[in-house]
Amino acid sequence: MISEEIMRLEAVEKVYKIGDSTITALAKTSLSLESGKLTLIMGPSGSGKTTLLSILGFVIYPTSGRVIYQGKSVSAMGVNALADLRLREVGFVFQQFNLIEPLSALENVMQPLRLQKESLATARSKAMAALTALGLADRAHNLPKKLSGGQKQRVAIARALVTAPAMLLCDEPTAALDAKSATQVMNELQALAKGGKAVVVVSHDLRLRKFADRTIYVEEGIVSNTVSNEAFYK
Ligand SMILES: Nc1ncnc2c1ncn2[C@@H]1O[C@H](COP(=O)(O)OP(=O)(O)O)[C@@H](O)[C@H]1O
Ligand SMILES: [Mg+2]
Repeated sequence: MISEEIMRLEAVEKVYKIGDSTITALAKTSLSLESGKLTLIMGPSGSGKTTLLSILGFVIYPTSGRVIYQGKSVSAMGVNALADLRLREVGFVFQQFNLIEPLSALENVMQPLRLQKESLATARSKAMAALTALGLADRAHNLPKKLSGGQKQRVAIARALVTAPAMLLCDEPTAALDAKSATQVMNELQALAKGGKAVVVVSHDLRLRKFADRTIYVEEGIVSNTVSNEAFYK
């Protein structure tokens, strides 16, 4: 798999104004993301990791700077176009899984396809394929409460993937998991990157570095280190 740039941030900054004071959640940052790579974003709580991930996922606009996706500037897009781009190109995974409790694993994974108006039959077969890829075929008809944390997170990954997005953005995906499940989830994310997705994982767990092709450090809104892991470990 050849890695290539999928997205680029150029001097992107995010500032929040609260009354008279301003918070620079993300100071001017330039970086690029590549398909076929797992990028880890590390930093303490409040450092700007989620802000950075939200900009990468077209959830929020930067205050200034340019976001280039597949060679096109997204800064000029309206909110509807941005939402469309997000639905088509991005899958999100969160710390708390965000599964819908009264729905089975299969129905949860079908949800994004139903939102995209896929037929029930197509949604069901694609969702089953995604669950199978995550090793959960035998759990398809279980409700979330019957699943372990690691299994729930793999259902959430299947749900993020079922629409075949180019990017998979994960905010603290292992924070609620035991070490063994965390390793399993990271192995899955690594395999997805190897398969060609641009995978981004936000975490403050240093142990996750071994799964990453590249680690970015954020501290007080400042992105300080974007060396590849190969260079880092030399
Ligand atoms: N919507 C918001 N309004 C005001 N301040 C915010 C908002 N979102 C984040 N912040 C502030 O920006 C900083 C970075 O937040 P965040 O990106 O969530 O950090 P992290 O994910 O690393 O914990 C924090 O000081 C946070 O309080
Ligand atoms: Mg966060």
